[in-house]
Amino acid sequence: MTGRPPLLRRIFGHSVRQRLAVGVALVHALLMVLFVADITYRQRAVLAAQSTDHALGLARMIAVNSVSWVLADDVSGLAEVIDSIRGAPDILYAMVVDPRGRVIAHTEHARLGLFVVDEVSRTLLAGPDRARTVIATAQMVETAAPVVVAGRTIGWARVAMDHRPQGAAMRATIAEGLAYIALAIVLGTLFALWIAGRLTAELSHLSDETNRLRDGERSFDRVAEPCREVARLEQAFLDMAETIWTREDQLRHTIDQLATSNEDLERFAYVASHDLQTPLRNVGSYAQLLARRYRGRIDADADEFIDFIVGGTKHMSAMIHDLLDYARLSSRGTPLEPVPAGRALETALANLSGLVAETGAVVSAQDLPVVMADESQLVSLLQNLIENAVKYRHPDRRPEIAVTAEALPSHQWRFAVADNGIGIEPEYFDRIFAIFQRLRPETGAEGTGIGLAVCQRIAHRFGGRIWVESVPGRGTTLFFTLIDGRAPPAISAPSPATGL
Ligand SMILES: Nc1ncnc2c1ncn2[C@@H]1O[C@H](COP(=O)(O)OP(=O)(O)OP(=O)(O)O)[C@@H](O)[C@H]1O
Ligand SMILES: [Mg+2]
Repeated sequence: MTGRPPLLRRIFGHSVRQRLAVGVALVHALLMVLFVADITYRQRAVLAAQSTDHALGLARMIAVNSVSWVLADDVSGLAEVIDSIRGAPDILYAMVVDPRGRVIAHTEHARLGLFVVDEVSRTLLAGPDRARTVIATAQMVETAAPVVVAGRTIGWARVAMDHRPQGAAMRATIAEGLAYIALAIVLGTLFALWIAGRLTAELSHLSDETNRLRDGERSFDRVAEPCREVARLEQAFLDMAETIWTREDQLRHTIDQLATSNEDLERFAYVASHDLQTPLRNVGSYAQLLARRYRGRIDADADEFIDFIVGGTKHMSAMIHDLLDYARLSSRGTPLEPVPAGRALETALANLSGLVAETGAVVSAQDLPVVMADESQLVSLLQNLIENAVKYRHPDRRPEIAVTAEALPSHQWRFAVADNGIGIEPEYFDRIFAIFQRLRPETGAEGTGIGLAVCQRIAHRFGGRIWVESVPGRGTTLFFTLIDGRAPPAISAPSPATGL
């Protein structure tokens, strides 16, 4: 289709209606022209043959009737014979010549006694002695018949007839033919338009119904009395729709199951971490009590062990606290709405102002877009990433952090938080997003290893994804995508329960 020259495309157009109408009109025109041309040609041939036969008949009749007058050399008798055909239609002239070519009778009396010396006449007189056509043009035909007595030719009768009246008849036939061509084109085109109209009406009905299916309708209004091809297409659409509905139901069922199991898991994590807090608090309090009362009263090892217990319970308490926050991410989240990412960044930086001031970190940011988010979780996402960028800074240089956003096709933005810190080896790119995974606890940076797991959960909840690129020793960039908040796409935001 793409290779078709533009001219043909222009002639045949783009719609079925136009193509059918133009195609039928052209075919009708071609067939009718061929038909009329053929009829005209045949009619012309028939008329010419009739006219020749008629002229030959007259020439023979004159030849027969002239025998006695030629023998008697009676010019007035011959003139009577010639005059007998004068009234016949379309006669141009008639004559009788003797074997030497002398005109002995003629419809134009003035030609009597003249000799016919032209090429045609000389050929005729030279023989053979039988009736025949001597001149045949589009305008006239001339025939000749020998005047024979006892096997001897004593003269020639010649009759010429005018073809032009037949030409007029032919022109009338052609005019009628053209009128039929025009009628055939008009009727054919109207018929084609009617057929195409019916077909396109059926197709647009089908396409309307398909749009309704796309918009979530579960009913399909069939075309009334469709043609066989449209009926097959319609059936194929219906089969496809039913397959999609079945899959949709299965998917919805799976999502529901997933949501339930996710909720169960969250509830479990919440209950477990919540219920663990009380005994842990007791362990911590009693360990601190031990430390206060018995420090220096048992021995140095005992003091150290008690310190381990106190430190361990503090760390475990922090982990349980973080786990609780992580479990609440979905259930406590608010619905997604357009949020200016710049405002979320300002809040995150305000929360981190102490750390930033203390480390002399420089945070630069370009104008950030409006995105679909839950504002407090977006703050938490940015805060975790900037905090990491500062925490995992290089010991030899001041931390420099850049926050940027780049528009992607399909209504998305790709954010990047880039730092010049210690970097991450590629083999840990996946591990850092897992819960409680820390790469270098020995660096002394505080934390439980849940920050990036939280970031990943938030990004997924917002309908985006998160990933890392890094050059160890040079710096790290954390990327995440978010949906544009100014033109939310038609698809619904992911379910808060599943984070999918
Ligand atoms: N910008 C970064 N540069 C270098 N390493 C990083 C960076 N961000 C994260 N990491 C590594 O990934 C690990 C996981 O990060 P994550 O934020 O999940 O935990 P954390 O910072 O250790 O603790 P938390 O965030 O819970 O306080 C970190 O321990 C650190 O080793
Ligand atoms: Mg962190």
